[in-house]
Amino acid sequence: MSFHSESLKRAEEYLKRRNLSMKKEIGGGTQGVVLATTNGTAIKALNDTVCYMRERNIYLRLQECDIGKIGEFNVPRLVSYHDELLVIEMQIVLAPYVLDFASAYLDSEPPYLDDPQIMAEWEREKREQFEDRWPEVKSMMSDFKALGIHLADVKPGNVMFAD
Ligand SMILES: Nc1ncnc2c1ncn2[C@@H]1O[C@H](COP(=O)(O)OP(=O)(O)OP(=O)(O)O)[C@@H](O)[C@H]1O
Ligand SMILES: [Mg+2]
Repeated sequence: MSFHSESLKRAEEYLKRRNLSMKKEIGGGTQGVVLATTNGTAIKALNDTVCYMRERNIYLRLQECDIGKIGEFNVPRLVSYHDELLVIEMQIVLAPYVLDFASAYLDSEPPYLDDPQIMAEWEREKREQFEDRWPEVKSMMSDFKALGIHLADVKPGNVMFAD
């Protein structure tokens, strides 16, 4: 069975257990399947436990800090989660938003930060992706850092602007 169909099965099981219905599939990235529910929430079924734990723990940190917004960016609020089904249920957000914390580091910096060559190449790529919005993205990243959350996967799709 493919990653996608296996995760989809767990997402459907979660819906059943919570008495929810699926409205539509809104994302099927590399790390999981995302469905919109008839409850106005999104559920993300992760492909593996490591990514699930990472993302769940970050949503728990955001919940502890009562964060629904960072700067101009909406951040989904945690609604519920299921450790066996590897499912995170969160609010649906509209752009501008930042989401997808499955690759983020909590209370520790990514190991590549002190490699100048990697960082220079990363910065070049990000400038190209975000163009004149790059300073806003950088400032948002440092706001997350203040919460102990080190984003490692900022890219269009995970960071969306309203215009
Ligand atoms: N809470 C949400 N509100 C609105 N849209 C969402 C939400 N969660 C996910 N999405 C949509 O689903 C897409 C995929 O979600 P996410 O990035 O979390 O999954 P992923 O598998 O890690 O994706 P990828 O590997 O492509 O980055 C997002 O880019 C976004 O368009
Ligand atoms: Mg993503």
